[in-house]
Amino acid sequence: MHKNDSRPLLAALSLATLSVTAAGPVFADETSPVAVVDTMEKNFGVHPGQRRNHTKGVCAAGTFTATQDARQLTRSPVFSGKPVPVVARFSIAGGRPNMPDTARNPRGMALRFSLPDGGEHMMAMLHTPVFGVATPAAFLENLQAASPDPATGKPDPEKQKAFAAAHPETKGQADFLKANNPPASYASTPYYSLHAFRFENRAKQVRYVRWQFVPQDGTRFLDDAALTGTPPDFLEAALKSRIAQGPIRWDMVVTFAEAGDTLTDPTVPWPEGRKQQRIGTLELKSVSAQAGGDCEKVNFDPMVMSDGVAASDDPVLRFRSAAYAVSFGRRLSDAPAK
Ligand code: HEM
Repeated sequence: MHKNDSRPLLAALSLATLSVTAAGPVFADETSPVAVVDTMEKNFGVHPGQRRNHTKGVCAAGTFTATQDARQLTRSPVFSGKPVPVVARFSIAGGRPNMPDTARNPRGMALRFSLPDGGEHMMAMLHTPVFGVATPAAFLENLQAASPDPATGKPDPEKQKAFAAAHPETKGQADFLKANNPPASYASTPYYSLHAFRFENRAKQVRYVRWQFVPQDGTRFLDDAALTGTPPDFLEAALKSRIAQGPIRWDMVVTFAEAGDTLTDPTVPWPEGRKQQRIGTLELKSVSAQAGGDCEKVNFDPMVMSDGVAASDDPVLRFRSAAYAVSFGRRLSDAPAK
């Protein structure tokens, strides 16, 4: 937990310095977060002042209020039961600011909870129920397979096929994105933690959970006709017109791990029928453009949490922190002067 954005900024600056002098720090499988962000820049171009992934997005704000029962599960102040102010950011995966809203890739919802003691707690989720890779090394390999071929300026489909064949774990997320058209609105989309997290209450009882934010508006995907007829930039306008009708709400629901469920592999769903519990409601009351908005300069590092919620040993979750710090450092340092 930290009081402002200076901690990730310092981390970002030290990582950026490391990138000049060394291959980058070593994480779990020795993948360099600097190499990951360099490859994002190679694939998507550099857009000064912008995120290197999930570049296109929109800000929102509101509160999160936990249920009474939530306190039995975690002592985190996010779940005190009092309304906690939240800054949210909705986004599309990929590093291009002009990514079409009809693209078949993940949508994100990131949340920053501002805690009564001045601390912060972050969550950054996707609309796919599973993730595409189980390790940072595979994430980098996937990006490399999608890099433009110098001869054609386009990704080599053979390299992408070879990557998919060597990584059958990508199938779950790919099948979901193939089977479901993109969301009709950020407001009518569930968002998943994907990773497992460790909840601990005041009595030091520990439960491992995954969570999802379930939209009270219901889940709606674009229908096939809308998919071809929809303009490339409808999501921000749709969110603004939805909020004009009143607050948008999601229920936060945790799923409890049972013995044998993976706590480290976000590509593997837990078996159906696991016990679930609603532990709070997110209520968003305003929406604003990303440029100059409250979410623009936030690093939604999912490893920034408050006491009572902690990371599992999922190597993807742990790696994200360093990659976000590199991207955050670069976008702060190359932002055009105002
Ligand atoms: C090794 C795996 C991953 C890497 C290297 C990675 C990398 C990144 C980077 C560099 C950014 C931009 C950060 C910034 O400039 O602030 C980003 C944004 C984001 N990522 Fe990931 N990511 C990974 C996995 C995931 C997973 C598993 C999820 C969901 C559970 C996720 C959800 C998001 C979201 C929602 C954003 C946008 C956050 C915002 O609105 O600022 N990512 N990712």
